[in-house]
Amino acid sequence: MITGGLGFIGSNLARRLMALGDVEVAVVDAMLPDQGGNSFNLDGLADRVKVHVSSIGNEATIYHLVSGVDYIFNLAGSTSHVDSMQHPRHDLELNCAAQLTLLEACRHFNPRVKIVFTSTRQVYGKPLYLPVDEQHRVAPPDINGIHELAAENYHLLYHRIYGLRSVVLRLTNVYGPRQLLAHNRQSFIAWFIRRALDGDVIELFGEGRQRRDLNYVEDVIDALLFAGASEEAEGEIYNLGGDEPISLADLAEALIAQTGCGSVRPVPFPPERQIIDIGNVYSSYRKIETALGWCPRTRLDAGLARTIEFYRQHREHYWHGNANSFPRPFATTTGN
Ligand SMILES: NC(=O)c1ccc[n+]([C@@H]2O[C@H](COP(=O)([O-])OP(=O)(O)OC[C@H]3O[C@@H](n4cnc5c(N)ncnc54)[C@H](O)[C@@H]3O)[C@@H](O)[C@H]2O)c1
Repeated sequence: MITGGLGFIGSNLARRLMALGDVEVAVVDAMLPDQGGNSFNLDGLADRVKVHVSSIGNEATIYHLVSGVDYIFNLAGSTSHVDSMQHPRHDLELNCAAQLTLLEACRHFNPRVKIVFTSTRQVYGKPLYLPVDEQHRVAPPDINGIHELAAENYHLLYHRIYGLRSVVLRLTNVYGPRQLLAHNRQSFIAWFIRRALDGDVIELFGEGRQRRDLNYVEDVIDALLFAGASEEAEGEIYNLGGDEPISLADLAEALIAQTGCGSVRPVPFPPERQIIDIGNVYSSYRKIETALGWCPRTRLDAGLARTIEFYRQHREHYWHGNANSFPRPFATTTGN
């Protein structure tokens, strides 16, 4: 089962799993407005993936769905740090309350299920040193980070107390095909890609000197599968990370070079972003490399080229959010 499976990372995971063959995949996604859920993300898999349009916070649905499942890749959540500051209780519902409902469902109806939860390196806050490893203190700089940290801890508590086989991955910035491009409140890299492809100005807050590491989505899928397959990973937290930290200004230039369009303009930091900005941040992935053998394999230029090609081919499905217009090519159930 993939929660958030119509979103960016979840749908790429569903595609990889289906390509492996001999596996049944069910997706649960609430298709929330302004988030990455997009029916086109599972285009072509209509007859092979069972899709349930529901929140994992919907007890009636989720209590029923978890039984008999071997693995849960738990990717459902709200990812926008800016939105979490505007609507903190909504973020609480999605990133904490709904997570507890899923975990309670597992505790009662499938206590030995393997569950891989995707958190964020935002939980570390403004780094004290770089690259950030798992020993770094946690100090979330925004509501979303606080709720992700709580959700991690719920997963690890249910492992210690009830025996759920939970693993936590702290993701860094992920990019690739099937990401939300409709607005700029989720991912700066997706937004930069869109602006470049449109031949628009890419605005760089504070001149874009902040350095970040990026992971191509297929590398993140590898990590999810490695964590799912490993008993050693249970009860652990692992960072993912990239090899080539890059400034936002250099990333924008790389995109302009690859697309052949767009331009950059430094602009002052909007106050609502400055207040939660964490400056330079990139993660060490040595722990997962040592334990599970994972490392990112896709170089940035190759990942960007594949990403740009995908959106050139499918832009009509990504330029406008379509969370409110869910066609029904799939077998679905619904819920709130
Ligand atoms: N993309 C990144 O760069 C990144 C970085 C760090 C962490 N993460 C984490 O990875 C996970 C997946 O991110 P993504 O980029 O694929 O996001 P996304 O927005 O593309 O997908 C998330 C999906 O979850 C669904 N969802 C949200 N709350 C739900 C609920 N209560 N029940 C069912 N579905 C729900 C949304 O409708 C959406 O389709 C998130 O939990 C996020 O915190 C992502």
